[in-house]
Amino acid sequence: MDVVYEDEGVGGGSFRIPNLKNVALTGPYMHDGRYATLDEVIEHYNSGIQNTKELDPIFKDGSGNITRLNLTYVEKKALVAFLNTLTDNTFIADPKFSNPFN
Ligand code: HEM
Repeated sequence: MDVVYEDEGVGGGSFRIPNLKNVALTGPYMHDGRYATLDEVIEHYNSGIQNTKELDPIFKDGSGNITRLNLTYVEKKALVAFLNTLTDNTFIADPKFSNPFN
């Protein structure tokens, strides 16, 4: 059954998908900062997704039920390792971006 939240926000419960570049450096995660670590984000995708009316069909089966990823421990760690590869140390150490008032 669909979960209905009282406050759906200005987007009516929809979100623009964030860019994952340097995501390992930009916690806490999600629009409300509910997850401190990438492990928690992956666990959300693995077992925490709620069935709202805005939920992308990619997360549902033909009957409208949520499809769980059922990742193993190793698969979850591999996914977090992949997200860590998106860290661009050259970009974050570039003096050009060090002072917004220059
Ligand atoms: C296993 C595959 C996926 C991974 C590893 C992943 C990873 C992430 C991460 C790390 C964030 C947090 C970004 C931040 O707060 O800076 C995020 C947020 C988000 N992702 Fe994914 N994602 C995946 C699949 C998907 C899919 C399939 C969709 C949509 C069809 C999606 C839609 C979103 C949205 C809307 C947010 C923002 C949620 C919010 O701010 O509350 N993601 N994702």
